[in-house]
Amino acid sequence: MDSQHDSPTIGVGMVGYAFMGRAHSHAWRTVACAFDLPRRPVMAALAGRERAALEEAARRQLWAATDTDWRALIARPDVQLVDICTPGSSHAEIAIAALEAGKHVLCEKPLANTVEEAEAMAAAAAEASRRGVRSMVGFSYRRTPALALARRLIADGRLGSLRHVRAQYLQDWIVDPEFPLVWRLQREHAGSGALGDLGAHIVDLAQYLVGEPLTGVSALTETFVRERPLPAASSGLAAVADGTAPRGPVTVDDAALFTGRFPGGAIASFEATRVAAGRKNALRIEINGDRGSIAFDLERLNELDFHDHTEASETAGFRRILVTEPDHPYLEGWWPPGHGLGYDHTFVHQVRDLLWAIDEGRDPEPSFADGLRVQRVLAAVEHSAANGSAWTPVVHESAAQGDPPPASGTDAPSSGTDARSSGTDDPVAVAP
Ligand SMILES: NC(=O)c1ccc[n+]([C@@H]2O[C@H](COP(=O)([O-])OP(=O)(O)OC[C@H]3O[C@@H](n4cnc5c(N)ncnc54)[C@H](O)[C@@H]3O)[C@@H](O)[C@H]2O)c1
Repeated sequence: MDSQHDSPTIGVGMVGYAFMGRAHSHAWRTVACAFDLPRRPVMAALAGRERAALEEAARRQLWAATDTDWRALIARPDVQLVDICTPGSSHAEIAIAALEAGKHVLCEKPLANTVEEAEAMAAAAAEASRRGVRSMVGFSYRRTPALALARRLIADGRLGSLRHVRAQYLQDWIVDPEFPLVWRLQREHAGSGALGDLGAHIVDLAQYLVGEPLTGVSALTETFVRERPLPAASSGLAAVADGTAPRGPVTVDDAALFTGRFPGGAIASFEATRVAAGRKNALRIEINGDRGSIAFDLERLNELDFHDHTEASETAGFRRILVTEPDHPYLEGWWPPGHGLGYDHTFVHQVRDLLWAIDEGRDPEPSFADGLRVQRVLAAVEHSAANGSAWTPVVHESAAQGDPPPASGTDAPSSGTDARSSGTDDPVAVAP
């Protein structure tokens, strides 16, 4: 191809246009500027429920057409890939309809609101995969270059046998008890609270970095503020209520704290909260092995701390790797060394990897089966917390729901991310 303009195209239709909608729109718009692609994405159509807001979003985010019904969007002949950026309560219905219509799917996390929904989605994805239709769940932090490098170091054995996984995801946007009752605080829309919103990310990351699914958990959850004013308007993590608004019950957790075990022997701790005053988006993960350690903080996302315990003790210690070199994962598309990347770049990397997987005829990671593995851990956490923190196994089923084996190829064909699968072939089920 002489230029990206001459390359074949793939029509994208997106559902939802607020926080994640904007992040994904940016990614679809930008990806061809940064990376070689097998097919250039065309932003064909945007779906939402309210005509005026939808038209305004399509104009700003540069979508060519609009539909107020997501079913009409799926049916469009110029849409070959459906990108789902709505709350969890709608993921299963939209994703399954799109897959059945033969459209590739990118679905935001958590995959669903319940294990049952996630099982149905994983089954639909496995069936679609047999027809060459691909699906991916949007655990975007896997595409942070520093975390992709961490995975490469672990897969290469640089940390040796893993002992500890220490993961936190800390935010503070609902510290104020007068912050309104947005959809993220309502079980029927969000499935769970900090657990599904933030905990899902760190569970996926831990399972991705370690290369195994958790085998069991012991958990505490807490809802500190049990009633909040109903919102006048909301989008993403922002909302307003007028002073006279009636109040409604918060039906999800504000915070979740749990321990877990990996089959290879590592033990893990997880903390997900939206009431850690002063912490804005502090996703931190540290992994210790018998040959070394890595540590990462999303608030310093261009950096990975690495300690090589095999070095002479006199000079050994954590070193700060500035993950901006051309041979670091995904960096070949971006700026000269030291000219750091941001939150938005992870979404660009996500759609790049999805487009290559579609072209190469393989299932991308994280797959819906990976999303189901996370969902089973979330359900086990809730089960444990409701039962006095009782140890709750996360049961591995044999390939039920037509779960396909993890992809054997790399999701990042030229970025240097490694090709190791994210876990076992088996999905994870919650013990009754
Ligand atoms: N990957 C990440 O880091 C990340 C970050 C934030 C949110 N998310 C996930 O993205 C999803 C959306 O979250 P958000 O923060 O963008 O929410 P949001 O409230 O900002 O936007 C939700 C959008 O969905 C639309 N919508 C809601 N119900 C709908 C329906 N039934 N049909 C059509 N449109 C509908 C709303 O109008 C809005 O445009 C959630 O699953 C969330 O967990 C992921």
